[in-house]
Parts: sequence; structure tokens; C-alpha cells
Amino acid sequence: MKLLNSPTKSLSANSIPRILPRRSFLRSLGLGAAFLAPGAALIGAAPQAKARDENENEITGGDIAILRFLAAAEIIETDLWRQYAELGGVDAAISGYVAALEILDGDQPQYISDNTDDEQSHVNFLNAFLRSVGAQPVNLDRFRTLPSSQANGARQIGRLTNLMQLTVDTSWWTRYRSTTNPDLGATFPNAVPSLATGLHTAIPRNNSELGDPNNPSDHVKAIAFTAGFHFAFIEQGGTSLYAAMARKVRNLTVLQIVLSIGGAEIMHFQTWQDKAGNATPLTDFDPINGSTVTFIDLQTGQPENLQANLIMPEPCQFISPSLPPCSIIRPTGPGQVSAHGAVMALTADGLFRGQSPEFFQVINALAHAADTAQRSRDN
Ligand SMILES: [Fe+2]
Ligand SMILES: [Fe+2]
Repeated sequence: MKLLNSPTKSLSANSIPRILPRRSFLRSLGLGAAFLAPGAALIGAAPQAKARDENENEITGGDIAILRFLAAAEIIETDLWRQYAELGGVDAAISGYVAALEILDGDQPQYISDNTDDEQSHVNFLNAFLRSVGAQPVNLDRFRTLPSSQANGARQIGRLTNLMQLTVDTSWWTRYRSTTNPDLGATFPNAVPSLATGLHTAIPRNNSELGDPNNPSDHVKAIAFTAGFHFAFIEQGGTSLYAAMARKVRNLTVLQIVLSIGGAEIMHFQTWQDKAGNATPLTDFDPINGSTVTFIDLQTGQPENLQANLIMPEPCQFISPSLPPCSIIRPTGPGQVSAHGAVMALTADGLFRGQSPEFFQVINALAHAADTAQRSRDN
């Protein structure tokens, strides 16, 4: 078996994955004969099937590069969700911010905490899996340098991400209500245009912005509603990213991992996009960031590309306009979604505002390696 042209080689010597045949691969996972038994009959019955089975179960350098980038993305997700959970999750003290989040849904604190736990589980699993196949796990701890909110409840630790100066793309809202597809060149307007320009905080930055739990001000509501739209922005990104990476994976266990974690990202997105539309109309000026945001009532009198309760993915063009419309997640095509594109989208979102050049070098190297991965046998 030839050692594949691993795109992870440039990162460090011990990041080069071992390419393992099926049996030793499964053994390294702690899965023994019992796991192999069902497939053994199939393999015994057809020599050709055996060869194909073994080939498909090689874990390639490309597979490892994809998993390493996804692990980095999950570490980033976990960092931002933890900040939300500290101020808006089930363990957060009641505040005007929490009360405003609960305008979106009374269960919002539970969902925030659960989404946070899910992301941490994705990190833990991906890094443990990487270790189990002899590949280097991902650690971004040295980049936890950004400041925390000063509001009570926020831990005073270094962060990877900045939730206090966001520019939130809300075109996912109109994209999923449209019959056209970004993979085929379609573009979509923002549902909340003022969030897509200027800088906006999605968490209270100080105690005064925690607000009155019994009567949250429009300013505090604006922060919570910004968070509500940002939750879905993050998770729709994961939804498309995992689907795009799945097209490049070769090993079937790695494909199972990518599809299964990707499915959880889809569930997250669907939850959040059902909640964001409950934002109540308001306009607020933020004197710290110098930006104004306006939320409109999306529940009544809106055209279909804005109507709040149209939360199912509208059937749209897929693969070819000559084929029937299909209800799908999108984009998933290589021209629209890539690891590098995900880094660019998170950067444009403002999440990395204040991060060091070295951080961008590392994250871009991981993205480049994932994007270089190919499904073909030679990667
Ligand atoms: Fe995740
Ligand atoms: Fe996620």
C-alpha cells in the first residue's frame, strides 16, 4: 500500500497519518472480531468484494486532513458557544439578556447549553479518533488570547473567538426560502440587512447590558436577537461544510463520522432558524460599536422569502435546473463550500477579530490541507 501524498505533511512530522489496512485500523479502534463478523461472511463470499472492501477502508492522508480541519472548526464552535452558554445557557443567572433570548423561545437557554455540549463532544470525538489512528489531534489553546465579556457570569479566560464585534450574514434565511441554489450561481439578500454591515455584539459586554430580567430594554433585546440570528449563521455553515467535506472523504468510517456529525449540525441549524424569526421589531443604536440594527416583524405580512414559519428547506434547483426541484441543504458543491471558504466566512463574520497572524497561518494551513484532499485513491 503506497503512502499517500499527505497534505498534512507540511504541518509537522507527526501529523502524517498512518495508512492502515482495514483489520489493523479496526483493531486500533478497539473493535475486534465481533465488529468484523457481519462483514466476514460477505468478504468470504466474494473475492472481488473483499478487495473493494479493503480499498474503501483505507484511511487516507486526505481523510485525516479533513478530520483535522473539522476538529479545528469544532474547537472554534465550542469556544463561541461556551461564551453564549455562560451568559445565556441554563446555568446563567437570570438577566434581561436571558429574558430577551426567551422571547425567541422559552427553551432557548436549554438549547444554547445543549448546542455547546454537542460541539464539545464533536471536538472530543474527532481528536480521540485522530489519536486512535495515529494522527495528530488539533490543539488551538495557544490562540486563546481574546478578551472575555466583563459581564457577571462570563469567565475571565482567554477566548479564541470574538462575539462582541460581529457582522452577521443573514442571507441563509432567504436562501432556504428560495427555489434557486447557490451551487448553480444564485445569490440571496440578507433577512436583516443592518446586521450584515457594521459591528454588533451578540453577548452583553458589561453588567449594564445584562439588563432587567423583568423588562429588558430594546438595547438588550437587540443583543439577544443578534445572537439568535448568529446561532443559525454558525450552524448553517457547519451544515454545508460537512456535506461538502463528505464528497471528498474516502474511508467509510470517516464518511460515517462526517455524515453523522454533519447531521447534528443540520439539527442545530434547523432549531435556530425556527427561533430567529420570533424577534420582535425594534431599532437600536449601539454606542460602543457605533452601529444601528433594525429587526422587523418577520411573522406577518412578509413575502415568502422572508416569512418566518417557512422553516422547511424550500425545494430548489439541485445538480441541474433540468431536474425537478428538490428539498435539500445548500450549498454543498465544491464551487461554493470549501474549508478555506469556511475560514473566510468566519473571518468576515468578525469571529477572529483580534487574532494573531499565526492563528490565521495555522487555520489556513489546516483548511488548505482539507481542500487538497481528494476522494481518488492517490491522495
Ligand atoms: Fe459541531
Ligand atoms: Fe455546530
